[in-house]
Amino acid sequence: MSRQSPSLAAVGITLDPAPGIAVSRHLYERIRDAILSGQLRPGLRLPSSRALAAELGVSRTTTVTAYERLRDEGYLDGRVGAGTTVALLQIPPAAAPVHQPPAVRRPPRLSAQGAALAGVRWRIRHAMDGPGSGPPAFPVGRPALDAFPAELWGKVVARRARRSAGSLLRYQHPAGYRPLREAIAAYAGMARAVRCTPEQVLVVGGAQAGLSLAARLLLDPGDDAWMENPGYYGARGAIIAAGATPVPVPVDEDGLDIAAGKALAPRARVAYVTPSHQFPLGVTMSLPRRLALLEWARTADAYVVEDDYDSEYRYVGDPLPSLQGLDGSGRVVYVGSFSKVLFPALRIGYLIVPDELVDAFAAGQRFAAAHVPALEQAALTDFIADGHFARHVRRMRALYAERGAALVQAARRELDGVLSVTPAHAGLHVIGWLPDGMDDGAAALRAAEHGVDVQPLSAHAQEPGRRPGLLLGHAATPEPDIVTGIQRLAAALTAAS
Ligand SMILES: Cc1ncc(COP(=O)(O)O)c(C=O)c1O
Repeated sequence: MSRQSPSLAAVGITLDPAPGIAVSRHLYERIRDAILSGQLRPGLRLPSSRALAAELGVSRTTTVTAYERLRDEGYLDGRVGAGTTVALLQIPPAAAPVHQPPAVRRPPRLSAQGAALAGVRWRIRHAMDGPGSGPPAFPVGRPALDAFPAELWGKVVARRARRSAGSLLRYQHPAGYRPLREAIAAYAGMARAVRCTPEQVLVVGGAQAGLSLAARLLLDPGDDAWMENPGYYGARGAIIAAGATPVPVPVDEDGLDIAAGKALAPRARVAYVTPSHQFPLGVTMSLPRRLALLEWARTADAYVVEDDYDSEYRYVGDPLPSLQGLDGSGRVVYVGSFSKVLFPALRIGYLIVPDELVDAFAAGQRFAAAHVPALEQAALTDFIADGHFARHVRRMRALYAERGAALVQAARRELDGVLSVTPAHAGLHVIGWLPDGMDDGAAALRAAEHGVDVQPLSAHAQEPGRRPGLLLGHAATPEPDIVTGIQRLAAALTAAS
């Protein structure tokens, strides 16, 4: 062991603390990192705290504090006054300082399910670097956040935070805040003809968390699940995360093709559907198909996951009752979300499950997320009870109907013969059909270059074979931007064709 104690500068250790960082902490970190990286070898004698203080021009308290912490954590040996040496540690080669990137990136050692999940395509949107200021027109699946009463929501949350601090700080029941479960049961019954008790309602972190929970509780690794094709990638990802196989089943103008599903995956244990407003095609599942789907689930001992993500928005006629309301044999797991009706970052959705699944789903939620944050659940309950929720939905329904009509009108004027846009009777987006043979992915990229955010229909398909088309969200785009957005899209598509 060397008797000679080098100056720290001689081994390349100098101080350069960031503003606000105590010098003693900085010194501690520099020496610790130097030990972990091998720059200071095990057994090396360090300068005394006094000599080091003089060398660095800092107080002795600073160096003593740093040395003591390093000694307490096992990096240094010795006592103050009796010499300080680097501890005789076996340092693995990769134990480099945490803030430095590893020299060689190894592929992560994931489970088979993890690797499959990491491969699911989920970044559907394109980078938007086009001309113009403000957010680009036509993002899909986004509500009008510019019209959300954020100040009012803030007051409701603040009032709750002030008044019920005690009870909302405790762990909650995994199924959710009881008054919210009651409010959801009443709302789903009234607005969606869902038949349930509050006990069947489970508050989850958005529809996505509900889909993942349902997939994990109802599917074993290797099982088949019917997946609408084209369909929602969030559901596909949830099925893959459970280790199961999403089997693409075609969708036509009556919704999911049940006969095709039976032929393609006769032993499927789950069918994922969006019967009120199919995502992304927008069709409504016909009554014969609904009855056939329920009958299949009953005889196959399978479950139907009904994703009712945006059913509040129907502009023509009455909203269609849920599939769950037709189910007499406890085969439907109903999924709802406040993402589209309020705002997506709220991360509150709900599952309404058959009686016999209630305990299993509560346990699943307990071990997945414990529960959804209580303050937001309680604030949402107040927002509903005070009538703000119903008022907001009414206002948004009128606004989205106007924006949808403006989009269709502008498209008919500017995009005649290039993009055939069908009127939006429901939901937050419309579909524009491109001429057969056109590459919708290339068209969407071209649109992005012109500052317009549209999604290619093919990005939602698990298997190709559909007409090319573009999804245009109308809800989050104010009318003046709809007109300029359509003009830009026309420029992009005519340049592309
Ligand atoms: C089909 C479908 N389901 C559910 C959701 C909502 O998911 P979440 O509640 O997780 O925001 C979306 C949002 O885009 C969707 O398109």
